[in-house]
Amino acid sequence: MSQYSTLLTELSNGVFIITINREDKLNALNKAVISDLAAAIDEVYNNAEIRGVIITGKGAKSFVAGADISEFKGMDEAGGVALAKRGHEVFNKIEQCPKPIIAAVNGFALGGGCELAMACHLRIASENAKFGQPEVKLGIIPGYGGTQRLTQLIGKGKALELLMTADTIDAACALKLGLVNDVVQTVELMDTCKAIMAKINAQAPVAIAKVIESVYAHFKDGIDGFDTEIELFAKCVTTNDFAEGTSAFLEKRKANFSGK
Ligand code: COA
Repeated sequence: MSQYSTLLTELSNGVFIITINREDKLNALNKAVISDLAAAIDEVYNNAEIRGVIITGKGAKSFVAGADISEFKGMDEAGGVALAKRGHEVFNKIEQCPKPIIAAVNGFALGGGCELAMACHLRIASENAKFGQPEVKLGIIPGYGGTQRLTQLIGKGKALELLMTADTIDAACALKLGLVNDVVQTVELMDTCKAIMAKINAQAPVAIAKVIESVYAHFKDGIDGFDTEIELFAKCVTTNDFAEGTSAFLEKRKANFSGK
């Protein structure tokens, strides 16, 4: 396993836990964190021992309090393009990952933090979590996919409200809006995420990858998600896991999936 200057990582029972480790700056995403996240996600794609990922922030206060505002000073238009493109590249890689990725949101998820959580497949929040896209306060708009993913998750009306008012909402409100999957007590956050991951990892891995691909096909321009579903359903039928899953059901035993 690789070492990262801004992340703590651990692999246990096939679950790769990535902890953003800049507690003194509320885990703000500077260039080094973005770069480390890109490399860590590459590791997820390439390491067969990794079955799923949980991303969280160090400390009791913050998941990620946004992009690092200190790196914004003096940025010109070309710099803006480069910063946003790099963020999009990394967050798209997270979203398109064939292995499940859960955001364990343990506090502030503002700006790039909310965008990072939204790029993950599932979001579980602790009771103290706070969400928002406060970029307009700084004279900018979200640059890591926030205008798109927030609209996809909670709908145009509420997305526009949050984006234009810069309001911060609490975990209960985020749950009501569908921004998070669940809210749990802070002490239960990681165990809850691990339990969800264990449930997912008990299923056929290829089928999980195809679920992710098929759902996100809905949001791809020029792609008919129903056609994608037909194609991916047929691909699943050719897998050993399909043979094993159906045999196990008929033989009344637990399936033992190989992921092939
Ligand atoms: N970028 C850079 N540094 C940040 C940061 C960010 N997005 N968010 C917090 N920090 C730093 C603070 O500058 C401070 O550093 P310092 O101790 O060296 O001065 C440290 O993290 C602690 O933050 P602080 O503001 O003192 O904590 P708080 O509890 O008073 O407030 C927040 C917490 C999250 C409300 C506040 O930090 C905040 O508004 N952050 C910016 C959120 C934002 O606009 N994100 C979108 C960016 S595009």
